[in-house]
Amino acid sequence: MKVVIIGAGAMGSIYGGFLAEAGNEVYFLDVFQEHIDNINKDGLWIEGTSGDRYIKNIRATSDPSEVGVVDLAIVFVKSTITDLAIKSNQAVIGENTVVLTLQNGLGNIEKIKTVVKEGQIISGTTSHGANLLGPGRVKHAGHGATVIGELNGETTDRIKKIADVFRDAKLEPVSVSDNVMGLIWDKLLVNVGINPMTAITGLKNGEILDYPELESLAEEAVNEAMLVADASGITLETPDAVTHFKEISRVTGENVSSMLSDVINKRRTEIDNINGAIVREGEKHNIKTPVNALLTRLVKLKEEQY
Ligand code: PAF
Repeated sequence: MKVVIIGAGAMGSIYGGFLAEAGNEVYFLDVFQEHIDNINKDGLWIEGTSGDRYIKNIRATSDPSEVGVVDLAIVFVKSTITDLAIKSNQAVIGENTVVLTLQNGLGNIEKIKTVVKEGQIISGTTSHGANLLGPGRVKHAGHGATVIGELNGETTDRIKKIADVFRDAKLEPVSVSDNVMGLIWDKLLVNVGINPMTAITGLKNGEILDYPELESLAEEAVNEAMLVADASGITLETPDAVTHFKEISRVTGENVSSMLSDVINKRRTEIDNINGAIVREGEKHNIKTPVNALLTRLVKLKEEQY
């Protein structure tokens, strides 16, 4: 399968690397020139939980015309730049291209829809963990599940085929869901609890549970978000979101969350697509979300201090 990764940061590199290793024709589209150059020169270095190796059969570029039209485009840029990334890379999307978003947060599907027909978009979630170590070098910090689905919940031939391509690429466990919005919200609620707490305090995911004040604040944020999910007509796949967020904090205990990593590297965070999105969705349904509003402001304050 001809695949492009739009946004080959840590997670994009892991998926692209695995897919290339399995013999797919894989391209990376990114703007990080040193990353592109190192991958084209030496290959992509992956280390960590899945073993240490170079993957050489990836073509990296910042120019979509060098890629051409693909079968599958996986969008892995930060939610903050989804619209920009999809617009500037439109050239890789043809009539039969399927566009998959596995990004964190809310609003990505809507942004992709401004350029791509809704019927071509599929979505999902990933529980892999990864950190970019440097240009051309990525750490696979945790192997987790990938769940994908059609936006209308149908189990189509194309979704089954893409799931098989992922399975063949050793990305198992991979499954197809008929409730992809529920899954996106499940993950969102985990991020609502973990990401701002780690970004504000500098703690690793598991350490949140070592401080009762932090743990209860995170719980309040998740509880607010659950009310918003319910009012938005979302059926969560994991209804006990508080227990779920704690479980993921524990399982990914040693991880530096993506939001803390953004703060450490002085990058814009995804707070507007996570806790900020809860505040916006809450307003639509007259649900008060003071804890999420506060956490959003505190993370924005961090960004202002760069
Ligand atoms: O954003 C992240 O870092 C991840 O989604 C999660 C689950 C919090 C693990 O680090």
